[in-house]
Amino acid sequence: MKRLLLRSVTGLLVLSVAAVAVVDTLNRQDEDRVPQALQVQQMQREPTATAQLVERGRYLALAGNCAGCHTVRGGTPYAGGVGIATPFGLVYSSNLTPDTTHGIGDWSAAQFWRAMHNGRSREGRLLYPAFPYPSLTKLTREDSDAIYAYLQHALLPSARPNDAHTLRFPYNTQAALALWRAVSFRPASYVQKSDRSPEWNRGGYLVEGLGHCIECHGTRNALGAIQDRMGLSGGSLRIDGWYAPSLLNEREAALSHWDERHIAELLKTGRSDAGSVMGPMADVVYESTQHLSDADLGAMATYLKALPAPTAMVASAAKNAPAAPSRRDSAVMLRGEKVYAQQCAYCHGNQGEGSIDAYPPLAGNRSVLMDPPTNLIRIVQRGGYLPATQGNPRPYGMPPFGQVLHDQDLTAVLTYVRGAWGNYAAPVSAQALFKR
Ligand code: HEC
Ligand code: HEC
Ligand code: HEC
Repeated sequence: MKRLLLRSVTGLLVLSVAAVAVVDTLNRQDEDRVPQALQVQQMQREPTATAQLVERGRYLALAGNCAGCHTVRGGTPYAGGVGIATPFGLVYSSNLTPDTTHGIGDWSAAQFWRAMHNGRSREGRLLYPAFPYPSLTKLTREDSDAIYAYLQHALLPSARPNDAHTLRFPYNTQAALALWRAVSFRPASYVQKSDRSPEWNRGGYLVEGLGHCIECHGTRNALGAIQDRMGLSGGSLRIDGWYAPSLLNEREAALSHWDERHIAELLKTGRSDAGSVMGPMADVVYESTQHLSDADLGAMATYLKALPAPTAMVASAAKNAPAAPSRRDSAVMLRGEKVYAQQCAYCHGNQGEGSIDAYPPLAGNRSVLMDPPTNLIRIVQRGGYLPATQGNPRPYGMPPFGQVLHDQDLTAVLTYVRGAWGNYAAPVSAQALFKR
């Protein structure tokens, strides 16, 4: 009996040691190109930071919206401290200024690249994927070196200490993160597709890698990991309940029917004749895509336009199977019509036709028709501005109605705009107003 017990304990031990070894090996995949810390100190063979390299790094950092996550509102650029909400708690972005104590002043280019490519910090700590390295891993070493040169040479050091993450147990342990990574993360490179044009490939590199569009537009599994194979199939954000629509699905925000010119214009200015951005996407345009060159925006447009429609598997999993014709309560519709006439029509038009270059049409507008109606609810509750961009410097604003209208009037007008002028989307319920 004793012997049996001993044997099973030994067996268990061996098994767990083996499991730990496997998890550890998986976590170190593709790290061989990074020399050990000691060697790094001896070598210090950094890319020489020419003005050209620094400028290139500045541009790439804009394309990756590094400042967007690493700068608190009104704070020192790149000094970190932004709390990123995850299902497991808050992860704070790090100080990326060249401060040697609190920032990355004493990092080597190789260590920086290991952070981008492998998601590992200077001293070896595994990083949380709130830092979008599952996408940034596709960056080339050259581009990583350029961003590194920019951060080291163009910024002033800031002595702001990093904040401790506030994650719940066991998610706050390195062991849990190592396990998550063993299942959900592999370092990768962007693989050029030889049957596609250089332009398409450039667009793919920017969209899949640096632009990390999938971090919002991707579907996540129960572990909170992006499901790569489903592509840009749409995802709910942990930012005020916004929904980043599928860029594949016709019923959501697929771009296959758009002119490439309109796609590039949307990313450059926040609006085009085919649609406009709002909420978190307005921030992406403001902080990032408006700064990109016409060539890069054109490449992204080429790639986005060519995205394949969802495969059968994905389509059947999609939440918005054809909406069953929903009965609209005529009293609600009447009430909504009245609210619309008083509050909305003077901008969006009596027939929801909008006005060119100022107010978007609501008739046939996919932001209005989309399921779930979260974005529609958010914009009407909170209002919004298109981003002020060089191409659209003084955008018109949409006033917030959350404080102006009772919930009943709000649901009525939302139901009305989804059901009037040929629009045919499900009514909005009172519960939906509070859903996060
Ligand atoms: C969506 C938000 C987000 C974006 C975009 C983002 N980061 Fe981060 N980054 C984070 C968070 C959060 C952390 C902290 C992760 C941790 O501590 O585990 C982090 C950590 C890092 C680290 C590790 C720092 C350290 O001290 O270990 C580096 C390096 C870094 N980011 C560089 C970049 C660069 C370069 C870009 C742009 C290409 C970028 N980040 C874009 C959120 C972001
Ligand atoms: C921080 C999260 C976030 C990131 C990152 C992000 N998006 Fe979005 N995106 C959204 C949200 C939310 C919406 C829905 C609001 C809207 O329609 O503007 C959206 C909408 C869109 C739309 C539809 C606009 C319309 O009106 O039809 C396009 C196209 C788009 N995003 C492209 C991109 C591309 C390309 C990238 C990568 C460069 C990207 N997004 C990165 C959150 C994000
Ligand atoms: C003062 C003019 C004005 C009024 C009044 C107004 N809006 Fe808007 N609305 C705008 C502007 C400007 C935008 C574009 C802003 C943006 O996309 O961030 C907009 C955007 C929208 C959008 C998003 C459309 C899209 O393509 O992204 C919806 C939906 C909307 N309004 C509905 C309403 C409803 C419903 C009312 C009445 C309760 C209303 N608006 C009242 C000016 C107005």
